[in-house]
Amino acid sequence: MNRDAWRDFPGAPPPGTVLCPAAAIPEKGVKSLDLDGFPVLLVASAEGLRAYVNACPHQYLPLDWRSPNILSENAEILRCSNHDAGFDAATGQGIDGLGQGCALDPVPVTIRGDALVIG
Ligand code: FES
Repeated sequence: MNRDAWRDFPGAPPPGTVLCPAAAIPEKGVKSLDLDGFPVLLVASAEGLRAYVNACPHQYLPLDWRSPNILSENAEILRCSNHDAGFDAATGQGIDGLGQGCALDPVPVTIRGDALVIG
């Protein structure tokens, strides 16, 4: 997996860009963000917070295009709402359906002060 692939998406913001206030980090489920056209998906996975480019590698549609309910009850599997591709919520690796053989592109995030930032 190329951990810097997110930088190749159009409009990828520079490290240090604020994603949201720390208080807005989801404790359950997912949260979609649009940073001037750069789509980010925050995921409260079973192994902690993860962030991915919100572009399913099948057709590069947002995973939550058709429904916001894309994280399994146990917070281990992300299921694209478009054509059901399954991804490991903690790693982004495709695990079934159209997700097999591909992966979501992780976005590195960290809490800095009272904000969640890229980097
Ligand atoms: S766009 Fe996600 S499975 Fe088709």
